[in-house]
Amino acid sequence: MTTNRTPFVAANWKMNGTGEFCAQYFKSFHANTQIAPLLANDATTQDKAVEVLFAVPFVFIEAVRRLLLATHSPFHVAAQNVAAAEAGAFTGEVSAKMLEDLGVAWTIIGHSERRTLFGDDDETVFGKVQAALRHSLSVILCVGETLEERRAEATEAVVERQLGKFLHAAADGTLLPNDASSPIGTRIVIAYEPVWAIGTGVTPTEGQIAAAHAHIRRLCVKHLGGTAGGSVRLLYGGSVTAANCRSIAPIAEVDGFLVGGASLKADDFASIVHSKLELVPKPK
Ligand code: PGA
Repeated sequence: MTTNRTPFVAANWKMNGTGEFCAQYFKSFHANTQIAPLLANDATTQDKAVEVLFAVPFVFIEAVRRLLLATHSPFHVAAQNVAAAEAGAFTGEVSAKMLEDLGVAWTIIGHSERRTLFGDDDETVFGKVQAALRHSLSVILCVGETLEERRAEATEAVVERQLGKFLHAAADGTLLPNDASSPIGTRIVIAYEPVWAIGTGVTPTEGQIAAAHAHIRRLCVKHLGGTAGGSVRLLYGGSVTAANCRSIAPIAEVDGFLVGGASLKADDFASIVHSKLELVPKPK
């Protein structure tokens, strides 16, 4: 199925890497035969075929940004988290303004590891989304059910609850100015990541992924209308690998991936990016 939404593939390195790892990683990523054409002089047109970003630990953001700039790479560096507060006595936190100053365009918010290990509840997650959008950061907002919730057939209700505040605020215009200069589809991407699939090697069936994505699309369209709701990219995340990405990539409403473990291997991540690129119709 073709849509006019630009496919979007994001790497989530989590708390991994060293300075040396970053340098080696981008050397092999950029040398990858599938990715190299995207770095050619016509990258501006090719770039639009798929949006690629790397959510790396805060301490590597500047190094990765420089590595990407040095190769005129069309790919972006992103953060994995951001503070809800603007500034002040919040030891260890990093604000949206700081990331904006660094030239970071995207951040992940509400990842299940933040929710379960660091206590980010729906309220906190919404505060972080507001903080990011007040500045120039766009957001990958993560949602997804636990195994108990899936067994209790609560997947749809959980996702609806997790998206609730965001969808209501986006609908009533309090989240973003509802005008063409700031279209919601360029500022928010939603990642459906069932908690039981993250880092486990277990992936949902294609039917389960299709059903969850269709539900999220329905919620977006219901609250935001057909045009805005239809413009939000929906990513699948949870044990995506170079081996399984080609069976997930064509599923309706899967506009791309959020990739954890497999994104640490440059060639595997390149192959995952390519699985989305292969589905983009070639210009005549
Ligand atoms: P995984 O992680 O690909 O290692 O399952 C995905 C994520 O946490 O975003």
